[in-house]
Amino acid sequence: MPGSLAARLRQALGRLPARHGATGAAGAALAKRPGAALLALAAGGGVGVAAWCEEKKQVVRCGVWRELEDLTAAESSKSATGRVVLVTGAAGFIGYHCALALKKRGDGVIGIDNYVPYYPVSLKRSRAEDLRKEGVYVFEADINERNFLNHILKEYKVTHILALAAQAGVRYAAKDPASYVASNVAGFVNILEAARHASPMPRIVYASSSSVYGLNTKTPFSEDDMVDRPASLYAATKKANEMMAHTYNHIFGISMIGLRYFTVYGPWGRPDMAAFSFTQKIDQGEAVKIFQGPGGTELMRDFTYIDDIVAGTLAALDTVAPSTKETAQCTTYNLGNKDPVTVSYLVDCLEKSISGRRSENTCPCRPPATC
Ligand SMILES: NC(=O)c1ccc[n+]([C@@H]2O[C@H](COP(=O)([O-])OP(=O)(O)OC[C@H]3O[C@@H](n4cnc5c(N)ncnc54)[C@H](O)[C@@H]3O)[C@@H](O)[C@H]2O)c1
Repeated sequence: MPGSLAARLRQALGRLPARHGATGAAGAALAKRPGAALLALAAGGGVGVAAWCEEKKQVVRCGVWRELEDLTAAESSKSATGRVVLVTGAAGFIGYHCALALKKRGDGVIGIDNYVPYYPVSLKRSRAEDLRKEGVYVFEADINERNFLNHILKEYKVTHILALAAQAGVRYAAKDPASYVASNVAGFVNILEAARHASPMPRIVYASSSSVYGLNTKTPFSEDDMVDRPASLYAATKKANEMMAHTYNHIFGISMIGLRYFTVYGPWGRPDMAAFSFTQKIDQGEAVKIFQGPGGTELMRDFTYIDDIVAGTLAALDTVAPSTKETAQCTTYNLGNKDPVTVSYLVDCLEKSISGRRSENTCPCRPPATC
């Protein structure tokens, strides 16, 4: 094995918890296949091991595939409905709820998440642990790991991909723009590439965002509106996703529905979002800053409850057409609440339910982040 390959193998092996003894298993597999170079182990958090043999330029079992937990990915992918859904970003807020709902109705479900520390990873781990208890297996992997994606699609006969993995948040782009390009642009292309090389090609439902409406002022927002004036890098990547979806649909016949989610809230929510951070402030007895729009106007948002998002997302998975040149569709839908409310109404509701107290603190500056 060339030195660089050996180094990569050592690096991959080093990521595995020693108690699983995977190093020995990998070594044994190498000995059995002298012509093959065992390059990488897709693993993490003790969830599973796949070996990639360079000889075949693809992930193969290589004799070391092992399920490291009591729940196996194979069990998790068992389907009573004929659908096997790969959920990317499964340890995230929306991914967690969707994976759970899919499992509950009998779909086979496999999750992937890279546990990026944009907000406390402990929350993502807790969601993943809850999913495990409910029979959903979550691989710790990055959607940029192409061979791993290829392997998962083939091994578990994935029929649908629910592509939710992304670097979320609007303001964080000022700190780490590269993370948006890596996950939302390169990662999304990777998923499309894996899908187009799969046989049969899975159908895809992916997360876009209301942020694509950017500087548009006409309301209510319609899917027919032009969305070419994004106001953040995040929004630009989501718009890019819609254009890439169109391209892969047009060239390869991958069937895709993009869902423009509008500010989602609910249990297990994201700590960087307003409902969560306002609740924390009110609970700690601090006043909440309510940002104002131009001329002191009240900001309005389409806050959407997670159960409605799950219902809409599952409906999209149920109706997305088969991925063939003849049948494929490429559609985007707004998935939000039709009754926008002011941010101070949200604060009112939170304050009433938490403390019964109302504190005023408006701030004529930039608005809170939206997704
Ligand atoms: N929550 C909202 O209000 C909202 C609104 C509009 C759009 N969206 C979109 O919906 C999707 C889900 O959002 P969410 O609120 O659940 O966010 P989230 O951050 O809770 O979930 C995203 C998950 O993806 C994972 N991830 C990121 N990059 C990855 C990569 N390269 N490989 C593997 N996993 C990766 C993260 O670790 C995270 O767990 C995202 O695409 C987001 O942009 C969300």
